[in-house]
Parts: sequence; C-alpha cells; structure tokens
Amino acid sequence: MPDAHAAFIAGLPKAELHLHIEGSLEPELMFMLAAKNGVRLPYATVEDVRAAYDFSDLQSFLDIYYAGAGVLHTAHDFHEMTRAYLERAIADSVRHVEIFFDPQTHTDRGIPYQTVVRGIRSALEAAEREQGLTFRLILCFLRHLSAEAAMETLEEALPLREQIDGVGLDSSEVGHPPSKFAEVFARARAEGLPAVAHAGEEGPPAYIREALDLLQVRRIDHGVRSEEDPELMARLRKEQIPLTVCPLSNVRLRVFDRIEDHNLRRLKDAGLLVTVNSDDPAYFGGYVNANYQAVAEGLGFGTEDLAELARNSFRASWLDDDAKARHLADVDAYVERWRG
Ligand code: HPA
Ligand code: ZN
Repeated sequence: MPDAHAAFIAGLPKAELHLHIEGSLEPELMFMLAAKNGVRLPYATVEDVRAAYDFSDLQSFLDIYYAGAGVLHTAHDFHEMTRAYLERAIADSVRHVEIFFDPQTHTDRGIPYQTVVRGIRSALEAAEREQGLTFRLILCFLRHLSAEAAMETLEEALPLREQIDGVGLDSSEVGHPPSKFAEVFARARAEGLPAVAHAGEEGPPAYIREALDLLQVRRIDHGVRSEEDPELMARLRKEQIPLTVCPLSNVRLRVFDRIEDHNLRRLKDAGLLVTVNSDDPAYFGGYVNANYQAVAEGLGFGTEDLAELARNSFRASWLDDDAKARHLADVDAYVERWRG
C-alpha cells in the first residue's frame, strides 16, 4: 500500500507555501559554491555535512542554516540555488510556489539586497516562462534581530516594491513575539503587502493570536501549537485561516518526537485549513512529496486525505480565484483518473 500512495502523491498537483529558499541549499551545491567563492566550511565532506544535521531544537538548526548560507555571494549563486529547488519542486508535481527569503542573512555580511532578489527572481521567472510554474516571493524578517533592523530592510525593499509579493517573519521564535514587529507589518500593509508569520512552532498559542491581531497575517506558518488553545482553534476553523504545516521539519526539530505523534490529523479533523510543506528540505530530509509520504505512512492519510491537502494548498495560496479554480479542477480530474 505505501507504494500505491507514493505513486498517487508523485502525480498529485500541489502548491508549496512554506519553503525557505536558503533551506533548499543541498550540501553538494554548498561545497561547490564554497570552493568557488573561497569560503571555508567546517566540514571535510558532503557526508560530514549531512552528519551534522542532527538537531535538538529550532536554534540548533538555525545556527547551521545561517552558516551554510554564507557560501552564497553572487546573483548567479542565488539563481542556481533557486533553480535547483524549482527543478525538484516541479518533479514533485508542484504547480505553484510561495517561497521565503531572508535578506538580512545576506545584507548583514555585505551582500547587496538587489544581488539576492535578482538571483532568486531570475530563476523563478525562468521557471514560469519555460515550465508554467507560478510563484510568489515573500520577504521574511529575522525576528531575533531588532524591529529597527526589520524596518530598514523593508525600506530597502520598497523602492522596488513589485519584486516582492508579501512579507513574513521567521527565525528564533521564543522571546521574539509578533508584537515586536507590529510597526513594521503596519508599514508593509500600508504599502499593500500581504503578510504571513511563523507562529506556534516552538512559541505559545498567544503568538498565533498576536500574529493574527497585531500583524494581520493571512496565514500562519506552522501553527501546530494552536491545539493547546480551544478558543483559538475555533477561530482558525471559523475564519479558515490556513496553517502551513511542515511535518518532517517538526520531527527533525523535535516539535514532535515521531511522525506518528504529529497532530496534523487532529488539526485536519477539527476542520482547520491545513497544508503540507517542506520548510527547509535540504536540512530536514525531504521535499514536499516526502512530507506527503510521511503523513501517509505515519498518520494513515489515504488518497482522499492527501487530495484534500493538495486542494488546501491551492485554497491557501495567494493565487486569484480563477487560477485556484483551475488548479482545484486539476486535482479533481487527477483523483478521478486515479479512481477510474
Ligand atoms: N522556523 C523559523 N525560522 C526558520 C525556519 C523555521 O522552521 N526555517 C528557516 N527559518
Ligand atoms: Zn519555516
């Protein structure tokens, strides 16, 4: 039966809505870029890198993830990293992506903001032109840095406002509540930029409420700790606020001990609009289809559950209603063919 699920998942049209492009940097490309750019890595081999990916929590991952991003220097480097991710996504039947980038990780080490955006966008635009993949690009603020630094980053992005489709909030959650960034998100909103935020990954349900009320986000990234707050659960259900859940990430960062312990099934059964995504696939052992496969095997999601996750990925996207309807019809047609 697992093989039947793998084949079903492989061809199932889907969107990916929670993906940090820096988290798609595979060790092989990291080594190549380190050699090209004269960056010393604290690892001798690709195997050593993978062995170092044994995380105890979010921070233990972030330390290694920010160090890895240090090999990215030129717009071409950012282009190649993005191109490699998009190739993998398309191979997983992903039709639409909404991806994050962390400009401060790069500008703080002297890489110009425009170098980062141009490299990422050129790969996204090529995939759209040549393969019909559609995309949105979301600028994330690093919450462990100050609100002033986030505002400076936003001000730097605004002269070329059309290069980005929205703003987000990531990095070390606990101790850095959404309220810290209320002003920055108000400014982004005034510029017509929609918002998302990581909340309720390691942080408490109160951070999810703050993201909704103070940052006025359209989606919650992760949000798995909403389960601890029944009133919040009722609100997420009633307002159909999407959660972009990342099952393999949650296991690798020890939010849940095992995939069998993940609460995705309960969140879905409670009527929440849940989606499945890969977060940082080069670090967490799998791209989006591996995450669908994990919930099929670990949580007993069958083909109808998996199809509903794919439908949710389009419903939760920032595509217009016509595009959503086309993708939803594609999912339905795929399921029909599979049944027939
Ligand atoms: N959480 C917070 N920050 C991040 C993550 C995550 O899962 N991935 C990359 N930056
Ligand atoms: Zn994330």
